[in-house]
Amino acid sequence: MQSGSLYRVVYMSTAVGVLRAEELDRIYLRAKSANAGAGVTGLMLFYEGVFLQVLEGPAAGVMSLMEKIRRDRRHSGIAVLESGPAESRAFESSPMHFVAARNLSPGEKQAFSDLRKAVAVRPAMAGEHGLSDFLAAFAAVRPA
Ligand SMILES: Cc1cc2nc3c(=O)[nH]c(=O)nc-3n(C[C@H](O)[C@H](O)[C@H](O)COP(=O)(O)O)c2cc1C
Repeated sequence: MQSGSLYRVVYMSTAVGVLRAEELDRIYLRAKSANAGAGVTGLMLFYEGVFLQVLEGPAAGVMSLMEKIRRDRRHSGIAVLESGPAESRAFESSPMHFVAARNLSPGEKQAFSDLRKAVAVRPAMAGEHGLSDFLAAFAAVRPA
């Protein structure tokens, strides 16, 4: 794929109600299979009722997926932290790399909470709250 056609979206959102483990599994399994077919890769974190997802792939595919995700009633309050062309994939090894809360280190949990608070106040400023450094820590595949 030419680098010019690569697009990335990063957003945070809040689960509606208490999201059961099986519902989370369903979202993840669906994402894994559908994204693989669409050439989309990315990351999903879920901690204390908050999602952080990275989607990267062909622009049209990422945008149409994002439209679907926006309409999904299992979450709300979607705050887009980053959206635009990308030079390369950060999560090329997985159609949806899921990192469960129990596999987040104490430092990552703190960083996630800090990011969530910063986003609640000023979503557009997320980039200045260490978003790329935070995400870089997840680029290496680790056990779900
Ligand atoms: C937080 C969250 C992340 C999701 N991520 C993806 C994803 O990466 N890929 C995907 O196909 N569906 C994802 N979904 C599910 C979509 O919102 C939608 O339910 C799914 O694409 C099925 O759409 P369709 O049956 O209308 O085609 C996600 C849902 C939620 C709540």
